[in-house]
Amino acid sequence: MNWHKVTTIRDIPQGTRKHVTLAGHEYMLLHTKEGIWCIDHRCPHADGAVGDGMILGQNITCPLHKWRFDLCDGSHAHAGTKLLGVYQVKVEGEDVLIEA
Ligand code: FES
Repeated sequence: MNWHKVTTIRDIPQGTRKHVTLAGHEYMLLHTKEGIWCIDHRCPHADGAVGDGMILGQNITCPLHKWRFDLCDGSHAHAGTKLLGVYQVKVEGEDVLIEA
């Protein structure tokens, strides 16, 4: 795992999200009042665009089949399915970096 600059803080104000692609992998940055999260954009269930889902607190709901994922650890209530990928985020000056 290495840190990668993916955007600047000005490009993702609180209340917005930003889709980024790194080495062909899709991520979604979500800037909520709790902070900036980074998750896989694609759902581990059936490839839905979970990154476009509705956020409530520390959870995001996939728009395709409504599975709800914890933004902290990618967990969900459906056994036997992979977790949603979640990634560390840090801000250095103006730069937003993810560990991936
Ligand atoms: S594809 Fe996300 S819940 Fe099914």
